Amino acid sequence: MKVKKAVIPAAGFGTRMLPATKAIPKEMLPLVDRPSIHYIVEEAVKSGISEILIITSRGKEELCDYFDYSPELEAKLRASGREEEADALRAIADMADITFIRQKEQHGLGHAILCAKAFTGSEPFAVLLGDDVMVGKTPVTRQLLDVYEKTGCATVGVSYVPNDQISKYCSLDVTPVEERVMEVHKLIEKPRLDQIMSNYAILGRYVLTPEIYNMLEHLSAGYGGEIQLTDGLNALCQTQKLLGVEYEGVRYDTGNLRGYLHATVQIALQHPEVGDWFRDYLKNL
Ligand code: G1P
Repeated sequence: MKVKKAVIPAAGFGTRMLPATKAIPKEMLPLVDRPSIHYIVEEAVKSGISEILIITSRGKEELCDYFDYSPELEAKLRASGREEEADALRAIADMADITFIRQKEQHGLGHAILCAKAFTGSEPFAVLLGDDVMVGKTPVTRQLLDVYEKTGCATVGVSYVPNDQISKYCSLDVTPVEERVMEVHKLIEKPRLDQIMSNYAILGRYVLTPEIYNMLEHLSAGYGGEIQLTDGLNALCQTQKLLGVEYEGVRYDTGNLRGYLHATVQIALQHPEVGDWFRDYLKNL
């Protein structure tokens, strides 16, 4: 079955990026010349997704505005002959069919995904976490979808995470299937060092089957008193095959200052207009 829909949870407060996020959503912080949410939506679109649900919360109206038309601004640009810029603005809103829903209370990532139930219905869907910007040749979501389309199995994007970092993520019990693909037997969210099953953790990308909702609905609160998607996947993989895909590409956690700076520098270096200039600038610092 072809996956047409993606869900982007973007409801968090962004407390790791205060005070920048005091009055604007963290997803609207720019990475060079476009907000970070732009890169996430673009990855979904480049992966073949045409319908996107962004899960927001109160005070995040700018996300909705960004993916809307800006008739006054476009008219002003066109009046002064800046047609290309006006077209580029319009193209942002036309990238995909984007809808929004608010997570009224924040009870964790699993709880956020439950807000997507009416949108995805009985179809499989991709999940792209709003903080995790991926840079690479083939979009990471596309890499997961390739495995889903071949196998029909739910997939998660995994990466090797060293011991001193993995407690921030999750740890998976896996067995290899083929190059870069593994079967996931068990998952634990935010493991203590003595709970680590492997150094593979999920980093920001998922392709889920609709059965995940049944799992999430029957979960009790997990790590941090929240409904954890990882716990839902742990239940799911007892009833159907779950595959881990060790994706190619670099992931930046733009929800914290260091990841945000890394992403900014990398994206600036690749920018068609300012990339070369910026490289020279850094060399001469
Ligand atoms: C979430 C997930 C976690 C995953 C991480 C990075 O954690 O719960 O399993 O490893 O994203 O994608 P959070 O960053 O919200 O604490």
